[in-house]
Amino acid sequence: MATNLSALDDVRRRLLAARERTLQLVAPLSGEALKLQHSPLMSPILWDLGHIAEFEELWLVRKLEDAADAGLRREYDAMRTPRSRRGELRLPDRAAVERRMEEVRSVVLQRLGRGVPDDGHPLLHDGFVYEMVRQHEAQHQETMLQTITLMRSEQYRPAALRDRRAAGASIPGEMVRVSGGEFDMGAEPGAFSYDNEQPRHRVRVDSFEIGRYPVTNGEYAEFMAAGGYSEPRLWSDEGWTWRTEAGLHAPEYWVPLDGDDRPTALDAAEITRDHGLDGWVRRTSLGEEQIRPLDPVVHVCLHEARAYAAFRGARLPTEAEWEKAAAWDPDTGESRPFPWGREPADVERANLDQLGFGVAPVGSYAEGQSAVGCHQMLGDVWEWTSTPFDGYPGFRAFPYAEYSEVFFGDEYRVLRGCSWTTALCVAGSTFRNWDYPIRRQIFSGIRLAKDV
Ligand code: AVJ
Ligand code: FE
Repeated sequence: MATNLSALDDVRRRLLAARERTLQLVAPLSGEALKLQHSPLMSPILWDLGHIAEFEELWLVRKLEDAADAGLRREYDAMRTPRSRRGELRLPDRAAVERRMEEVRSVVLQRLGRGVPDDGHPLLHDGFVYEMVRQHEAQHQETMLQTITLMRSEQYRPAALRDRRAAGASIPGEMVRVSGGEFDMGAEPGAFSYDNEQPRHRVRVDSFEIGRYPVTNGEYAEFMAAGGYSEPRLWSDEGWTWRTEAGLHAPEYWVPLDGDDRPTALDAAEITRDHGLDGWVRRTSLGEEQIRPLDPVVHVCLHEARAYAAFRGARLPTEAEWEKAAAWDPDTGESRPFPWGREPADVERANLDQLGFGVAPVGSYAEGQSAVGCHQMLGDVWEWTSTPFDGYPGFRAFPYAEYSEVFFGDEYRVLRGCSWTTALCVAGSTFRNWDYPIRRQIFSGIRLAKDV
């Protein structure tokens, strides 16, 4: 067992910082709000907290002891107890769940006190499993922020806030040309990455254009005013069926300032024609706010993103195009882990790390632009791609198939680029997210692409 003091310190610090943030995010919530299942799409937040603890014990205690039967208890196993049923669980109360988190953590820290082991165990190579557990907690913070945003039982007052950037210079709708040819796609060996980002491989794409910025509310309102939600030709068959069934007429959380809370698509077009964005407010647990024209549009589903793209005579980027625009440096031919290069993510280059509690206007993070000139590739909003979630050539599930492999296939689409709710440690140009085409409680937005 090797003992590397600075590695040990890093691991401990990272785990503690993730926990501190988790507790900070849930601190303003009442016990009732933690217990409630606010939507069938989301777990009760107590479930996320309990699951974070069980996951940590599984990977940082039992798996490292090579307990042969190590697995998650049924109620905290995402596979065996799907989200829609988690409201029926009799979960322990807040104090008990927080005690459990603490108890698991103290065992983990005790083990760590004996050093970060790196004895050839595949889970321990470069501290892999510790980073996985830290990022797991961070990813659940994003999930909890989805729940917090949609809950209606109480207002949410953040315990800490970071100022958001004001608008920088921008020309919404502007496209950037990316030349065709091969590039390296996927995570480079050496740094932590998930199985689904590996192995790195050469991919060829034709020349294409891609939005310099994410699509803004102002641009999206033009689609609404033009009757985009009532024009079946802009939608796929599946999308139109869903738009009709679900009564889609505006992004999630947009409420008309006057009149009916759930207008028809035709009413919504009229409101937008008559009043523009001033006809709407965004209503979430964070309160009511203006919808600002230069902010990236957020909380749209894949079908809305596709219809919007069709309205502009454009399309969504493929996943490979998105990654090339984010990672590829035309001067060197190299793919870099972050749009700006190799330095790790920070809040000067991207609206990440949760505490901004919202998106920033386009153009506001010029320091974070990619080599080809795309802004806000990381942070603000996840961006829908047209690509179904699948393994890269040579994919091998590690360390567990339920992280990504069980979701491979046509029903899920890849989202890229992370959102304002994504932790710094998770964000990067090769990180892959995925969800159903109808989902919009996630922090999802749009970046357009075009053939040249
Ligand atoms: C990568 C965001 C799709 O929330 O289902 C959390 C992350 N995996 N616990 C999810 C995850 C296991 C995952 N996503
Ligand atoms: Fe999980």
